[in-house]
Amino acid sequence: MNITFMSLKLKNPIIVSAGPWSRDGESIRKAIEAGAGAVITESIVSDTIIDVRPRIAYNGKGAQNIRLYSDVQIEGWEREMKIAKSGGGIVIASISGHTPSELAYLAAKLEFFGADAIEISVSNPMGEALEILASDADQMYMIVKEVVNHVDIPVLVKLSQTATNISRVAKAAKKAGASGVSAINAVRCILGVDIETGELMLPTYGGYSGAPIRPLGLAAVATIAQTVDIPICGIGGIDNYKNAIEYIMLGASAVQIGTTVMINGFERITEIVRDFEAWERDKKIKSINEIKGKALLNLKSFDEMKVEPAICYPNGEICVEACNACIKGCMYGAIARTEIDVTIDKNLCTGCGVCQFVCPIKKLSLKW
Ligand SMILES: Cc1cc2nc3c(=O)[nH]c(=O)nc-3n(C[C@H](O)[C@H](O)[C@H](O)COP(=O)(O)O)c2cc1C
Repeated sequence: MNITFMSLKLKNPIIVSAGPWSRDGESIRKAIEAGAGAVITESIVSDTIIDVRPRIAYNGKGAQNIRLYSDVQIEGWEREMKIAKSGGGIVIASISGHTPSELAYLAAKLEFFGADAIEISVSNPMGEALEILASDADQMYMIVKEVVNHVDIPVLVKLSQTATNISRVAKAAKKAGASGVSAINAVRCILGVDIETGELMLPTYGGYSGAPIRPLGLAAVATIAQTVDIPICGIGGIDNYKNAIEYIMLGASAVQIGTTVMINGFERITEIVRDFEAWERDKKIKSINEIKGKALLNLKSFDEMKVEPAICYPNGEICVEACNACIKGCMYGAIARTEIDVTIDKNLCTGCGVCQFVCPIKKLSLKW
């Protein structure tokens, strides 16, 4: 499905995010060949640094990384951009830095080298300076304005979930002339500690990514969609086509995938695009606008939540023997076991909803 995102014509809305999987021309070309609608380069900086080892840890669910930026110097991107674009396809150059002039310089160079758009990534969770910047709407305005003034291609601004008020920062980016915002970047984390040795999985703070951050990304995208009229690219924990649709239904116009490509290889790009397009064909969806923002209609403010009494009811399913998950999970002591079934004490049940999710056979649900 063709889409237009920030005036870019993409063959589908699945974009590969900035990271070591897009570190040079060859890897970007491969990601485009695998079917990506566009690829974002690993962040390009004015002063590259040497990689630390190890720099990525993974616990089977989420990843922590302390990889900072592309190790290809800005001059080298003239060559890499040619290779990246040699098979056709849209390439967005990610840039990172601390000052407006530094970022404007990088953006102008990359536009000259052939980038189709710029993504400003000042939301990297490694290092306090960028973390503070990612929350500061005034600084964000100055940076975006300077970059926008120096290029004619669209400028996307990558936001951080840790921003104190993400709407304010997105509004500042829009006011400064950004064509879109992307959210979220990896989230500051410590992945784990070995309790025998006291060693950390990685010995410094890093960026958390992958499936566990998806709820944070979804909330950030929904918040921006409800408060700022600007194209949004949803990022964070997308593992499959369904996750991509969740972001679009919460207001995103396109999405980015990162960790899932790092763990599963470039085939994952092909799979997500294929499954996404099959779903659209199956549902006879002709334009992304038919689903964009659909779930926002069901997103209520807390004040609108139901307060009428609801309690839990069992259906006729036969319990898994001695499972007792609902009894253990009932904080109010409202569920008891008979020989073959469970009973609910209507006076004790407060309708919290936990039992619906812990029951392995979905025997319990709330009724009003
Ligand atoms: C190893 C690694 C390196 C990354 N490098 C960059 C980077 O250079 N620039 C950037 O803006 N984001 C970078 N990111 C963040 C990703 O682009 C993405 O925003 C984040 O991982 C959340 O998406 P995901 O859960 O799909 O990975 C990196 C992430 C990982 C895991």
